[in-house]
Amino acid sequence: MKRIRKAVIPAAGFGTRFLPATKATPKEMLPIVDTPTIQYIVQEALDSGIEEILIVSGHGKRAIESYFDSAPRLEAELRKKGKFEQLKLINQSAAIQVFYIRQREMRGLGDAILCAKAFADDEPFAVLLGDDVVYNPYRPALRQLMDVYEKTGGSVLGCQTVPEDKVSSYGIVKGVPTDDPKCLRVESMVEKPAAKDAPSHLAVLGRYIIMPEIFEILEHTAPGKGGEVQLTDALCALAKQQPMYAYDFDGRRYDLGDKLGFLQATVEFALRREDLGAKFSEYLKTLKLD
Ligand code: UTP
Repeated sequence: MKRIRKAVIPAAGFGTRFLPATKATPKEMLPIVDTPTIQYIVQEALDSGIEEILIVSGHGKRAIESYFDSAPRLEAELRKKGKFEQLKLINQSAAIQVFYIRQREMRGLGDAILCAKAFADDEPFAVLLGDDVVYNPYRPALRQLMDVYEKTGGSVLGCQTVPEDKVSSYGIVKGVPTDDPKCLRVESMVEKPAAKDAPSHLAVLGRYIIMPEIFEILEHTAPGKGGEVQLTDALCALAKQQPMYAYDFDGRRYDLGDKLGFLQATVEFALRREDLGAKFSEYLKTLKLD
């Protein structure tokens, strides 16, 4: 069985749910407290044992590349002023080796994944979407999926149960039980179904282990819902060819593509911070708006 060494982070989308900020700032660069969202995603990949990361970028996404680059003038300035703590902070992101490819037209998540074909080079690979940040200080969400892959040898979809009024926002899985109560064998999937048509409440939440046969399928997948090449359609076809699993991972998950989810992440991550938590909590308790 091939090890999972590579991760793909699709980051070319327009982020229309977060306009006007995303007119000029990639949504992956919006900070949770003081750290861009994409840093949390990249860190989860590294903490899970991933060795190579490909970011699928697009128009107006230069800030992501700058973030993972060195910043010689800023570094010199911080050194000159003796600001070594800050220097350490900016050097951490520059030390991460990241590859990039540009998606030329935003033709959907499936098309973005297809851009990773040469990078994957016939190995199974991980996918992490920047919209979903998962807090789990014990076992990163992606690592949990990699454990399932190592046991089963099949593709794995990271899932959690969502309330009925939310099923129309996600890819929803139909599956059959396995020996592990947290793991289903996937029979099929539907992208953003109406609540009455949803086969379950188990939603795919931005973490995947995918077998390389997906590329062949994506090359022949016609645009689906919204005129976009849907990863869900291609995964559904893959599940008909080979075993695929849906794993109900542990962790507090935040939907950062959504304004309320973004605010929840900001507040909760700030409360968890050693340097800010106590003061911020005090502030929230006394907060009164006129
Ligand atoms: P979303 O469906 O959240 O789209 O994409 P979006 O454009 O980012 O955001 P909204 O819905 O308009 O607010 C899911 C993931 O797929 C990537 C996005 O960057 C995001 O990580 N994506 C989507 C691409 O890389 N390319 C695409 O053509 C579409």
